[in-house]
Amino acid sequence: MTPSITPPMLSRGLGSLLHDQHGQGWTDLITGYGAVFLGHCEPKITAALQAQSTRLWAAGRLPVDHQPRVDRLINQLLASDMRQAGLLSTGMEAAEYAMRLAATHTGRQAFIAFERSMHGKSAMSAALCWPNAPLRPGGLHTLPFVDRCAESDILEQLLAVLRTGKIAALFVEPLQGSNGAHQASAAFYEQAIALCHEHGSLCIFDETLTGLYRTGPAFYAERLVGTPDMLIFAKSMGNGFPVACVALGMHIQITPQALPGSTFAGNPLALAVVEATLQRMAELPLTQQVQQLDEIARQTLAPLDPTQVFVRGQGALWCLELGASVNISTLAQTLHDHHLLVTITGRFMRLLPAATMNTTDWHQACELIAQACQAATS
Ligand SMILES: Cc1ncc(COP(=O)(O)O)c(C=O)c1O
Repeated sequence: MTPSITPPMLSRGLGSLLHDQHGQGWTDLITGYGAVFLGHCEPKITAALQAQSTRLWAAGRLPVDHQPRVDRLINQLLASDMRQAGLLSTGMEAAEYAMRLAATHTGRQAFIAFERSMHGKSAMSAALCWPNAPLRPGGLHTLPFVDRCAESDILEQLLAVLRTGKIAALFVEPLQGSNGAHQASAAFYEQAIALCHEHGSLCIFDETLTGLYRTGPAFYAERLVGTPDMLIFAKSMGNGFPVACVALGMHIQITPQALPGSTFAGNPLALAVVEATLQRMAELPLTQQVQQLDEIARQTLAPLDPTQVFVRGQGALWCLELGASVNISTLAQTLHDHHLLVTITGRFMRLLPAATMNTTDWHQACELIAQACQAATS
């Protein structure tokens, strides 16, 4: 919500419905910033977490019995030339680990990312491209993205930086989930990957948010002909429990210098949750469910006048860019009054429905948002 509106004090949630401390229901299109992809307190995942909580919580780096099963489940989702390289607790940690892996593999220290992509808020991950990162270490190149530059010009700039021979990796957030849902064409991403490879650099796809079916396929990168060298995915894999993963191409070794090390990374609770979440995902027709959400969003939101509200997105990730004629406080208040929870940051409204959201509820929510946008426009 916008800062001027007091959000509800939440006490519990089930599916796409949250309840506040007074027992009032709220429709949730924030879903823990996209983490709760199968809905709150999904029964099978909750049962797995409860069962694990009576067995073992933390084991350091000692092997635990869930690990091989979780590795297998993750590897089944990946392209055949990739494997799971380690679990962490957050997207930013996974980005840091990916940077260490890329630096040790290439022997290079510099990185490229695209403006206003999100790779985390830790010192290095934010410095890659986050607009107000407090630290700006050297060796990081931020290129414009498709919101303000033609793809061909961006590729030229990319090539110029790659030609320095100093770049360990290019970070790509293929659908910018935190800044307007901008995405480049498949051809652009394929050329960017190819250019990285021609110049001895790696390409890292950050699918912290898009990974695991949010845009339809298991990974956004599946749309492409070329394969990135690393994939980061996180939010949905724990359905709200903090866990993240880095997957690697078979050609990249994990040397002791690059090993992830964190007290809580891949702890037994996280493993139990990931196992239950991925099993539940395999039982559900997620790609079809996300496709239905996509169609409803296109029917209800896309007809909005683009000079007032520009709608971008895919699957279960939508962003409404609110023009200057939209009174954001009025809009936020209307949605609040209807007990609809969305994220509004600056002039962007972000919608992240759970894949399991009832399509009638999603339809109603989208219609309400469209009407509220129109009513708040002068
Ligand atoms: C694409 C992407 N990468 C990285 C992150 C950072 O993840 P975390 O907040 O778990 O550190 C986010 C968080 O929103 C994200 O959307």
